[in-house]
Amino acid sequence: MLPNTDQIRVGVNGNSPLKRFLNHNDHYQSLLANVIRSIKPQVMIETGVESGYSTEHFIATMHDIGVGHLYSCDPKPSVFYEAYPINHPRFTLIREASWTALDKIFKEAGRVDMFLHDSDHSYNCQTFEYEWAWTHVRSGGIIASDDVGWSDTTPDKPHHAWDLFCERRGVTSLRQKINNGEYFKKP
Ligand SMILES: C[S@@+](CC[C@H](N)C(=O)[O-])C[C@H]1O[C@@H](n2cnc3c(N)ncnc32)[C@H](O)[C@@H]1O
Repeated sequence: MLPNTDQIRVGVNGNSPLKRFLNHNDHYQSLLANVIRSIKPQVMIETGVESGYSTEHFIATMHDIGVGHLYSCDPKPSVFYEAYPINHPRFTLIREASWTALDKIFKEAGRVDMFLHDSDHSYNCQTFEYEWAWTHVRSGGIIASDDVGWSDTTPDKPHHAWDLFCERRGVTSLRQKINNGEYFKKP
């Protein structure tokens, strides 16, 4: 059961993205929140905040189970986010792109138990973030990505950054679907 998100976004008055879209429970955000509930990460990193819809799911779950800290990075969250920022002791927002934010987060947090890519879905950015996650997420931790079949250029030709990453790292058989996304437990 999710807690009242007014504890997470002061002043939303029931208008938070999570509350407005709660019935979309097949979305990857609530499915990944269930993974948080199960593995109880001490440190989770999320790339890409936008309105904070996913962020709310994760913080609400951490708030509820009483474990975890979420570090999210986004150089330009949405106008909605700026109007209703998330202010919670289990949350830190780094207003930078993943290219520079991830090393800073790791320096501060010292560990990563769970990683989610949902930022720039270009081949280069996805590959950079997946490989960063591979070298920083602890063994037994979770690496997840939304939009694993994405194409930023031609809709019928996905760039397969996730498929290629999973093949390179020999984890293809571990892949679990979460709607448009996937995750696996790092061996
Ligand atoms: C798909 S939206 C995120 C949606 C959000 N995770 C959710 O489910 O509610 C993508 C966001 O990524 C941000 N972004 C783009 N490039 C980025 C990067 N390299 N690092 C971090 N965030 C980035 C954009 O500013 C945008 O707000």
